[in-house]
Amino acid sequence: MRFDHRHLLGIEPLRPDEITTILDLSDQYVDFNRRRDKHANALAGLTQINMFFENSTRTQASFELAGKRLGADVMNMAMQASSIKKGETLIDTAMTLNAMHPDLLVVRHPHSGAVDLLAQKVNCAVLNAGDGRHEHPTQALLDALTIRRAKGRLHRLSIAICGDIAHSRVARSNLLLLHKMENRIRLIGPPTLMPSGIDAFGVEVFDDMREGLKDVDVVMMLRLQKERMDGGFIPSEREYYHRYGLDAEKLGHAKEDAIVMHPGPMNRGVEIDGTLADDINRSVIQDQVEMGVAVRMASMDLLARNLRARPSEVMT
Ligand code: NCD
Repeated sequence: MRFDHRHLLGIEPLRPDEITTILDLSDQYVDFNRRRDKHANALAGLTQINMFFENSTRTQASFELAGKRLGADVMNMAMQASSIKKGETLIDTAMTLNAMHPDLLVVRHPHSGAVDLLAQKVNCAVLNAGDGRHEHPTQALLDALTIRRAKGRLHRLSIAICGDIAHSRVARSNLLLLHKMENRIRLIGPPTLMPSGIDAFGVEVFDDMREGLKDVDVVMMLRLQKERMDGGFIPSEREYYHRYGLDAEKLGHAKEDAIVMHPGPMNRGVEIDGTLADDINRSVIQDQVEMGVAVRMASMDLLARNLRARPSEVMT
């Protein structure tokens, strides 16, 4: 197994074989998590701090659970209540935490690039849990694991990513990963929610769901990220659902065995029909949550192996 990285900041720097390494180890952790006794020692003796400057349900919970199952000492910083509110900068907070000698820092931040900046200032391994519209690497990895397990492979699949592409770090990390693994990618959504210059990426772009979904193997829906919009992107939620919301009729244009994905949190009745989201014959949304814990265990395990292989930088 080769994974020579100090941090996990994005999918961009990863090679296909490194992605496969993470997914193979994640598969082992899926089995592990289904056991009654879920305690291992891969992170024993290490301190993991979760710093979430933006709200999160499943990402934060799964990083916390992943760390605890691997024996780390896990601390969740309540960023809303922290000194950031008193005017301390991100870097000041990071330096303060750094002085407490954490080994793994899991960071979510509303600004693209903030997590990379922080990684340059601290001595520990940093995992990006989502920075602005930039990257959300563990989400793309858990999506990849879900696809690989459902379809038996992660190459030469036809995959549609639908909805609010422009504001989505999930779309960006998925695009990078699925492209590296040689899949055919289609982006479907209103032109106002497509990032500019996206054609250069080697993807096909559609603004009609029925056309775009034709014969795809995977349908990945995205949340309409209202908090990142400053007006005028969509006419109304009702109109949006009518044109771009996934329901059984539109899904009928995809392959018969196509799977439906959504990273959560879902706006039912806006980007996806609630009944379809709950249909265990088509939707793998709950599998994605399960894969999330395993992928985060594998990612932290691999980074910890690299940490342990290096001599301690400060022991005094
Ligand atoms: C995503 C995120 O925060 O980027 N959610 C997640 O991590 N499961 C997607 C979203 O917020 O829509």
